[in-house]
Amino acid sequence: MYKFAHISDIHLGPLPQLTLRELFSKRITGFVNWHRNRRKHLFVNTLDLILSDLKARQPDQLMITGDLVNLATKIETRLAGEWLRTIGDPQDTTVVPGNHDAYVPGAHDKSVNEWYPFIKSDDDPAEWPEDDHIFPTIRRRGPIAIIGCSTSNATLPFSASGYFGSRQARETVNLLKQAGEEGLFRVVMIHHPPIHGAAASHKRMLGIRRFGAAISTGGAELVLHGHTHLNTLYWLKGREKQVPVVGIASASQGPGGHKPRAAYNLFTLTGEPGNWSLLRERYGLTETGDGVALDDSRVFYGAMPDQKLSVPEMARLL
Ligand SMILES: [Fe+2]
Ligand SMILES: [Fe+2]
Repeated sequence: MYKFAHISDIHLGPLPQLTLRELFSKRITGFVNWHRNRRKHLFVNTLDLILSDLKARQPDQLMITGDLVNLATKIETRLAGEWLRTIGDPQDTTVVPGNHDAYVPGAHDKSVNEWYPFIKSDDDPAEWPEDDHIFPTIRRRGPIAIIGCSTSNATLPFSASGYFGSRQARETVNLLKQAGEEGLFRVVMIHHPPIHGAAASHKRMLGIRRFGAAISTGGAELVLHGHTHLNTLYWLKGREKQVPVVGIASASQGPGGHKPRAAYNLFTLTGEPGNWSLLRERYGLTETGDGVALDDSRVFYGAMPDQKLSVPEMARLL
């Protein structure tokens, strides 16, 4: 049995004071927006509750699908790096960046550099060689292969789109094929939802079709994403069967906002290649905002695929 958890869109706050020079860039729009909308609803306390509940369930691996910060200032990326180190060993946490982690030109590289131990492939060097082509990454952990893709690039003001290019698509296919031949359960991490219509057009990912083709050519068992701050399930065509594409609310979202309250996905993998069973449980912040409880569960690839299960039914399956 192997357990892995999924959180996203941390948007670590509070927002540090910005220098005037930093305010002169695109960040001014983000700064104003953040003060208007986000400060009211994103709480560090919520993130702490989510993380302590998650840790109590002792997942073998934690996957974070981007947007760790808000405006990607130097101090924010550094604080996010410190926060990552408080969670645990880089071996046990995997990160892909989001659009907020590359808010302005140059920020992507600073984020990657700061969080590199949590991003890098198993056989990448210990220090980041400042190579743009770090993605896709691959990490092998027990029965799973974690394939990290990046859609993160600096965008125009008010835009939050992502990009998945042809080089990355080609290399993703190769990694997926390789991991498939090794009999590993392939989990692909990507910040933007790789699904048409899942995000508003100014927030969408460019290269959705390319990503879909990579999954159907290379094969995968699961795709995890963030960005929309919504708990969603979509499907992509795989090599042999449909691949679940799972989104999750922001791990910092307090109660009373427009978006669903903070949540995390906990996956329990059992079985073997060709006969996997994957249980997905989603735990979310309670309405009062002071606790975390199970709010959804379902089994993929099991004897009862695609069905909602009650807690006792789940217990029987485990
Ligand atoms: Fe986000
Ligand atoms: Fe995002």
